[in-house]
Amino acid sequence: MKTNNKFKKQEFGDFQTPYELTSKILQLLKNIDINPQSIIEPTCGKGNFIISAINTFDNLKSCIGVEINLAYIKDISNELKKHKKSSVVNLINDNFFNVNWNQILADIPKPFLILGNPPWVTNSELSKINSNNLPQKSNFQAYKGLEALTGKSNFDISEWMLLQHLQWLRKYSGTIAMLCKTSVARKVLTYAWKNDYYIDNSRIYEINTAKYFNAAVNACLLIIRSNQGQFQKQCFYYDNLDSKQNSKIFSYQDSQLIANTNLYKKTKHLQGQESFYTWRSGVKHDRSKIMELRKEGNVYINGYQEELHLEETLIYPLLKSSDISRGNTNTCRKYILVTQKYIGQDTQYIKDIAPQTWNYLQKNQHLLDKRASSIYRNRPQFSIFGIGEYTFFPWKVAISGLYKKLKFEVISCIENKPIILDDTVYFLSCKTEKEAIFLSKILNSSVAHDFYESMIFWDNKRPITIELLKKMSLHKLSQLMNLEHQYFLYAKDRNTNLNAIIF
Ligand SMILES: C[S@@+](CC[C@H](N)C(=O)[O-])C[C@H]1O[C@@H](n2cnc3c(N)ncnc32)[C@H](O)[C@@H]1O
Repeated sequence: MKTNNKFKKQEFGDFQTPYELTSKILQLLKNIDINPQSIIEPTCGKGNFIISAINTFDNLKSCIGVEINLAYIKDISNELKKHKKSSVVNLINDNFFNVNWNQILADIPKPFLILGNPPWVTNSELSKINSNNLPQKSNFQAYKGLEALTGKSNFDISEWMLLQHLQWLRKYSGTIAMLCKTSVARKVLTYAWKNDYYIDNSRIYEINTAKYFNAAVNACLLIIRSNQGQFQKQCFYYDNLDSKQNSKIFSYQDSQLIANTNLYKKTKHLQGQESFYTWRSGVKHDRSKIMELRKEGNVYINGYQEELHLEETLIYPLLKSSDISRGNTNTCRKYILVTQKYIGQDTQYIKDIAPQTWNYLQKNQHLLDKRASSIYRNRPQFSIFGIGEYTFFPWKVAISGLYKKLKFEVISCIENKPIILDDTVYFLSCKTEKEAIFLSKILNSSVAHDFYESMIFWDNKRPITIELLKKMSLHKLSQLMNLEHQYFLYAKDRNTNLNAIIF
C-alpha cells in the first residue's frame, strides 16, 4: 500500500470530516432512535466518524473501518490506543472496490449503520488525472440501471458507493447515514424509489459545507433506513442539522421526483399537455466569439476584438440568461448573427443577400467546422440550432434556465428587430404585446409558481428546464384563474383550425 505523500487529495476525494461535525451527526442519529449493533465506515479516512460512533453507542459489538490510505489507518490506530472501547474496531487498509463486503456483511451483528463521507470526486475528474480509483470496469458496466440513472458520462464515485450500500440494505436490516452532495442523495433515493426498494424514513439534512469543509458545494447528510416488507417513497428535508422540523418533503409520485410534496398536492391538477403554446429554447451556435458581436457606433466587434463591417440583414439583438434574470430586456449588450431561418436551411443564400457577412463566415469557416457537437455534423455550413418561425415572433415571454429565479419576462423588439434569446433561455413566442402580457400574468401568478416550485431543485446546475415548463397546461391555469376566455382569444390566433375546435 502506498504511503500518505503519494496520495493526492483530488484523486481520493479527500475531505476529512471534522470531529465537531461527526459528533453532531452521531448525536442526531441517536436522537432519532438509530441504535446499531455494528458500524461500517467504508472509506474511514482519519476516523472521526468511528471515534464519534464508539463514543455515542454504548452497545456496539463491531465497527469496521476501511481506508485506502495507510497513513490514515495508522492515525486512527494511534488514536484508538487511548480509547477504552477500541476492541470493537477492526481497521482494514484496502481499496473499497476490492473488499469482500459479502463476507463482512454476513459476519457482523445486525442491524448495522453504514456511516461516513465517501470520496468527493467524479469519474471524469479521475480520468483527467489518469487515476484508476474506480470500480473494476467490467463490474461497473454491468451495474444495472446505473447508466440510466447517472447519465453515462459523468458520475460521482460516492454515487456508485451509495448504490452499493443500498444493495446491502436489501439483504440486511440497517441504516445508511452518509454525507454526500445533495444532488447525489436525490439520485440515490430516486433509484431506490423507482425500483421499489424497501426503505423508509429517509431524511436529508443540509450541511454547511463552507463551515465544515471550506468548500462551496451543496451537500447533506443522507439517512436511509431499510424496512423489510414496505416502502415509503418520500424523504423529509431539514434545512440544517439542528432543525427539529422538516421544511419540506421530497417524494416520488406520478413517475417523477417532487421537490415539495405539499405544493405538489395543491397544484398537481395543473399538469397536462398544453395544446396551443410550445415552450422553446433559444438559439444554439457553440461559437460565441464568431457569432456574438458587440456594437460600437456602426462597427460590430467579435469575440476576437476584430472590427467588422457587416450588413444589418442577419444581425439581431441578443439577450442572454443573465439579462433575463436581471430583467434587463429593453436594451441589449450583444448582437447575434442568425444564419438560418429554420433548421437545415441551405446557407448559400447569404452570399447574395449579405456578401460581407458571407465573407466573414467563410473566413471563420474552419472554426465553425470544428464545433464538436454531433448536431452540426452533415448539416449546411454555418448551421445553428433552436431556430424556426417562432424565433422571429415580435413578442416573447421568457425565463432563464440557469438562475435561481422563477420570473417570466415580457420581451419585445429592439431596433425594430425581434430579440433572439440564447440557448439557456426558454420562451413562448407571441404575436402581440397583449398576448405576451397575458401569458406573463398567468405564469407569474402564485399558483403557477407553486406548481413549478413543487418540482424545482434549486441546487441543480440548470434548475429550470424545458421539460419542467412543459408540464403545466396553460389552458388549465387560465381556467383556474377565470381567464379561459382570454386564453382562447389568443390561442385562436395561433392556430387557424382552432375555431373549428372550440367554437
Ligand atoms: C471525503 S474523505 C472522508 C473520510 C472519512 N470518511 C471522513 O468522513 O472523515 C474520503 C476518504 O476516502 C478515502 N478513499 C478514496 N478512495 C478510496 C477507495 N477506493 N477505497 C477506500 N478508501 C478510499 C480517501 O483516502 C479519504 O480518506
